[in-house]
Amino acid sequence: MSKRILAIETSCDETAAAIVEDGRRVVSEVVLTSMDIFKEYGGVVPEIASRKHVEFIVPCLIEALKSAGMSFDDLDAVGVTCGPGLVGALLVGVSCAKTIAFAKDIPLIPVNHIEGHICANYLSHEDLKPPFMCLIISGGHSHIVKVESYSKYVLIGRTRDDAAGEVFDKVARFLGLEYPGGPNVERLAKEGKPIYEFPRALKGQKDFDFSFSGLKTAVINKIHNLEQAQEAYNPADVACSFQENVCHVLAENSVRACAYCDLPVLAVAGGVSCNGAIRSKLEKECKKHGIKLFLPEKRWCTDNAAMIGSAAYYNLMDGKTADLSLNAYPSLKIC
Ligand code: KG4
Ligand code: ZN
Repeated sequence: MSKRILAIETSCDETAAAIVEDGRRVVSEVVLTSMDIFKEYGGVVPEIASRKHVEFIVPCLIEALKSAGMSFDDLDAVGVTCGPGLVGALLVGVSCAKTIAFAKDIPLIPVNHIEGHICANYLSHEDLKPPFMCLIISGGHSHIVKVESYSKYVLIGRTRDDAAGEVFDKVARFLGLEYPGGPNVERLAKEGKPIYEFPRALKGQKDFDFSFSGLKTAVINKIHNLEQAQEAYNPADVACSFQENVCHVLAENSVRACAYCDLPVLAVAGGVSCNGAIRSKLEKECKKHGIKLFLPEKRWCTDNAAMIGSAAYYNLMDGKTADLSLNAYPSLKIC
């Protein structure tokens, strides 16, 4: 019998709810973002994010049910992101999910946010099944994970310092662009040329880790030096050179990881995977190396609840439910 799961996501600055059937079919979804508020702060303010979730969560749930033409009685389970993320923000979703599970006497399913990002691929690609390699590039994480089954993950590589999205946001700030920086850097980079050579961290490495902090410092120093020398320069060239460096490192490590594990299937996940230059570079390199590439639809790359509904279904199938003592786990690991 099919399972309809109500999923809730509140780990950062998006309040989201979705109803997903059998982990693959999105019946309805709502994303209410408070991103605009954070433009003036240049980043997410945790206290404000929590308060916005408190304000948005009930209207968000009601809208998700309404557009599915369902009531709470039609649900088979409730899934919720319990980590990683901002603790106050996570607690809003977790408390809400516990209340629904208790009131309706349905299973409560805890979901790891990163696992959710990986599962966004199942919503876009009916034919995608484990095993596959997954490159996860978000605001808080940069991982290469081997997805062995719907619930078993093996860490192949990770960032040793900053996450890819974090660096996009920081570089954007130094280029005078608004938060969230990623899409703005991408827009600006389209008008530039990759004329600056920035260092490639961990060059010649045998493992699959990333390191972006040296690149971040090099880009910031370049902007300072050009400005101090009062040299005329095009900020679009800086954005383009930076983005090209990130594209190269992400593609190289992913392709090597696929070869190392003898697994020629790569999926990509997380907010940074919206980036057109990164998508094109991965398409080109995967084609060259005989790797089948899966890219999720852009609306499911950034934070949403549909991906949480997919992950929740596979957790439920695996018996991974929680009792009402479930808490928020800000540093939850995927493997
Ligand atoms: O996955 P996500 O929505 O949230 C986290 O779980 O962190 O990712 C947000 C990150 C932000 O750092 C944002 O700047 C970045 O994804 N991002 C992009 C693009 N769109 C969003 N980075 C580069 N290019 C983009 N087009
Ligand atoms: Zn995310």
